[in-house]
Amino acid sequence: MSSIVREIRRPIEQEMSQFEKKFKKYVQSDVGLVNKVMRYIVARKGKQMRPMFVLLAAGTCGQITEATYRGAALIELLHTATLLHDDVVDDANYRRGFFSINALWKNKIAVLAGDYLLSRGLLLSIDNEDFPLLKLVSKAVREMSEGEILQMEKARKLDIDEAVYFDIIRRKTATLIEACCAVGATSANMSTEMIQKWGVFGEKIGIAFQIKDDLFDYGTLDIGKPRGIDIKEKKMTLPLIYALNQASKSDKRHIIHLIKNKSEETQKVNEVITFVKDSGGIEYANQVMQNYRQEAEDFLTHFPDSDYKNSLRTLIQYTIERNK
Ligand code: IPE
Ligand code: IPE
Ligand code: MG
Ligand code: MG
Repeated sequence: MSSIVREIRRPIEQEMSQFEKKFKKYVQSDVGLVNKVMRYIVARKGKQMRPMFVLLAAGTCGQITEATYRGAALIELLHTATLLHDDVVDDANYRRGFFSINALWKNKIAVLAGDYLLSRGLLLSIDNEDFPLLKLVSKAVREMSEGEILQMEKARKLDIDEAVYFDIIRRKTATLIEACCAVGATSANMSTEMIQKWGVFGEKIGIAFQIKDDLFDYGTLDIGKPRGIDIKEKKMTLPLIYALNQASKSDKRHIIHLIKNKSEETQKVNEVITFVKDSGGIEYANQVMQNYRQEAEDFLTHFPDSDYKNSLRTLIQYTIERNK
């Protein structure tokens, strides 16, 4: 574990291990193969940023309750379900530094295991009558699916401007982090108005999170999952959109031609990457990400200082400085 993650976890160390214990229990099944797949997933957990957002939002609001843990588990269950499905959709064999579920057990098992995780999340909320939490999270999952399909629709036409890009990432990524913060505040018995504000805060962090994720595509780090495939998949992200907007008409036509017709050729993809770097696309996306981070941080000034709040600030920092 990196030192920044240790620092974030310090005030919620016990809470996180409680969360992990519950998560493990919630995915148990009496079907052997289901258990086998679930054990594999539990042993290769991700960064667990979403449960940390839930716990730290609740803590900053003044109380971590039983509902906070269930909310954190609900979100991580659904997040994990979408990753299993995503790796089938993207045909990705690598996740969290290990083989993906579809790589090991094939697509059929991966899709069904994703459905299983989804159903366990739903039942966890229903059995405990956590309906406000379930509503927040269901809305996020709906938007996530719409965002993913919107991205595919746009990838076909290559007609993405910044507004469309932000619309896509808000839906596919930011709404779940928005839900984390709103769920944390709800579980700490905050007012409707305050819950809404926590949601806005989470959305800003979520947008910064996805810009960071898109920037990984231009780097050389091993982030534990396939990298450098956005251009191949004709996914237009912020650095590229910016670079195209700066370019002359003929350069723009040339680059679009490469993406449209030559994205299978590594050399052509590299040409696009060099073009983006030379146009200042990376610096631009970094700046935009910093602006979102700042807006999110400003919101925290409304709350009394606490270890939770300090950790939450560090978690925002980690969102944009992480290396996986
Ligand atoms: C991956 O999310 C999916 C995206 C929204 C890009 P994370 O990077 O938080 O995944 P894990 O849970 O840490 O593996
Ligand atoms: C991840 O999307 C899943 C969602 C955001 C819903 P991507 O396909 O862009 O992310 P990774 O790179 O596989 O994690
Ligand atoms: Mg993917
Ligand atoms: Mg995907």
